[in-house]
Amino acid sequence: MKVSVIGSGYVGLVTATCFADIGHEVACVDIDEKKVELINAGVPPIYEEGLGELLQKYAGKKILATTDYDYAVRNSEISFICVGTPSDDAGNINLEIVKAAARSIGQALAKKAGYHVVVVKSTVVPETTEKLVLPILEEASGKKAGPDFGVAMNPEFLREGKAIEDFMNPDKIVVGAIDEKAGKIVSELYRPLDCEITLTNPRTAEMIKYANNSFLATKISFANEIGNICKQLDIDTYEVMQAIGKDFRISPAFLNSGAGFGGSCFPKDVKALIGKAKEIGYGPTLLEAVISVNETQPLMMTDLLRKKIGDLKDKKITVLGLAFKNDTDDIRESRAIPVIAELLRLGAEVSAYDPLAAENMKKVFPAIGYRKSAKAALEGAEACLVMTEWDEFKELDSEFEGMKEKLVIDGRRIIKARNIDYEGLCW
Ligand code: UGA
Repeated sequence: MKVSVIGSGYVGLVTATCFADIGHEVACVDIDEKKVELINAGVPPIYEEGLGELLQKYAGKKILATTDYDYAVRNSEISFICVGTPSDDAGNINLEIVKAAARSIGQALAKKAGYHVVVVKSTVVPETTEKLVLPILEEASGKKAGPDFGVAMNPEFLREGKAIEDFMNPDKIVVGAIDEKAGKIVSELYRPLDCEITLTNPRTAEMIKYANNSFLATKISFANEIGNICKQLDIDTYEVMQAIGKDFRISPAFLNSGAGFGGSCFPKDVKALIGKAKEIGYGPTLLEAVISVNETQPLMMTDLLRKKIGDLKDKKITVLGLAFKNDTDDIRESRAIPVIAELLRLGAEVSAYDPLAAENMKKVFPAIGYRKSAKAALEGAEACLVMTEWDEFKELDSEFEGMKEKLVIDGRRIIKARNIDYEGLCW
């Protein structure tokens, strides 16, 4: 089939390359000419495991990038909106880019004869596709949704770093369409993936995405709360979670307690759902508690540190791990950010190491000491806080020898070294 993908960020590019890989022809549309040039040269503008290889294989063949909406819409049967939805200060999502994309597609539809389906893949709160995107498409195209063009919502469930793998091996595909015709066409695209498709309406599809992420975030905050209680009672919360995870109704995944969840999705999506609930007059107590536990969790690292060594003024503290999770340079909502801010507020001297994320963190904290290795960051430190679950931290051992005091507070249960004064955050 012929597909156009609007927006060449992480979701758009992964979707475009994976569609090409399962046999479709894809036009990528982006307003950024530099990105368009890079994609046509087979160079991904972002890092995502396996993306470079796929793009190299299909750029100029099954994938063509352009800034021209008219060309892309004319030469495809389906358009996917994969643009960003940044959040405002109150945590609500900003839909201006989605609106602009819908308007441009609508204007292109006005000039195109024949049926076309517009699919929202960007994460948007329930009702957005039907009450915001659809009317813009109708107004800009002068056509009627249903008979003239189809509208659908198709959420993504892609983990950063594993997005290609997740796209190619989905545990579910959700297609929320305004009618059967649009739903069938979108489902047809995914046929090569051999996965059962949940066919529903757009607002249910939108809610499935939020409920999925909110539930996973809830599991983490639950594990953290139980972990905080366990810590006081001298119980290993990991033993507890391993045991309850054997109950098939619970499952062992996402029960690793520690410094909390970060990233561009969980915090943002839970807050956006809270905002939507409040907008319709519902007080989402549980979701608010999920965020509240997550905001307190990193500060428990610094509280524990102060309990152990007292006043932090002028003390040299090492932070190991800056990325919001392992295998990425992404620091968005990383739990290391509130920890470093608190250390600086308390007058500590901070040195840090991360295999990939230091450059990004420099933009947030330009004045702390970034080191090229864990060993260098640990040299002379009076304590170390571990914030990210990097595999290489499992191997750390002699690196701790250079510390002045060998206190290591682990926020991710990743450190295996023995000759240190080890303290787990919740265990
Ligand atoms: C998340 C979801 O896992 C994807 O399914 C979803 O598609 C994506 O958001 C999205 O909405 O686009 P991602 O943000 O890449 O993916 O990150 P995860 O791998 O889910 O990790 C999120 C955070 O939770 C990390 O900070 C991680 O350290 C933390 N975490 C994870 C825990 O603290 N404990 C756990 O047991 C698991």
